[in-house]
Amino acid sequence: ADGTVEIPVVVNVLYNTSAQNVSDARIAEQIAVLNADYGGTNSDVNKIPTEFQSVKSGDVKVRFRLANTVRKSTTKTSWSTNDAMKKASSGGIDATNPTNYFNIWVVGSMGQVLGYATFPESAGLWNDGVVIAAPYFGKTGASSPFNLGRTATHEVGHYLNLRHIWGDANCGNDQVADTPTQTGANYNKPTYPVYNTCSGVSRSIMFMNYMDYVDDAAMFMFSAGQKTRMQAVVSSSGPRAGLRV
Ligand code: ARG
Ligand code: ZN
Ligand code: CA
Repeated sequence: ADGTVEIPVVVNVLYNTSAQNVSDARIAEQIAVLNADYGGTNSDVNKIPTEFQSVKSGDVKVRFRLANTVRKSTTKTSWSTNDAMKKASSGGIDATNPTNYFNIWVVGSMGQVLGYATFPESAGLWNDGVVIAAPYFGKTGASSPFNLGRTATHEVGHYLNLRHIWGDANCGNDQVADTPTQTGANYNKPTYPVYNTCSGVSRSIMFMNYMDYVDDAAMFMFSAGQKTRMQAVVSSSGPRAGLRV
């Protein structure tokens, strides 16, 4: 009634070691992180700088509900971003009905890659969804400084049509008006404020946005413009309307 969309999630776990076979509790923990971050109820929301209070998203009105967990043991220890994990015929797990379910694959390792996602133009296709390497999934037992479940928050942002906040180019365009233009990605834990040299930008950049590359503990907000883009994707006429319950 208030426009909140609850997305059913299928978590597909491909494990070689028992540490990679993330527990049901850790899956629940990851879903809870998504619900807090997308609800604007994350415990670090109070760290949003005053100058961004007027453009923070607040409640994005998207929530997540675990529908099913599928587990498969594999001899494969390392995966690449070629979608092999999404097909049984290449050693993976086939997606569950990607039109109506959001599929997440958890794999042992992807080298330096924490996770990757498909954009809404892939809605309903066999490879649609998000992949996260096990060390960066959930919180308990995850690998610092990416152990607060925010790789999933970031990847789900892509799944819901968000670009990186720097627009993947020097002073690039992320198609969101209320996120200041920035020269590139930020890493680690920057100290606010951070100014940059993109023309016409005299305020701090929003490095604490989930769509930057900072550590999990340094990212804690979406903007209102990002919320508008994500809501459009799951609206009844949007490309991911099939996720609506
Ligand atoms: N797409 C990025 C990668 O594959 C994920 C960045 C996640 N950042 C984070 N603080 N968890 O590396
Ligand atoms: Zn990304
Ligand atoms: Ca912007």
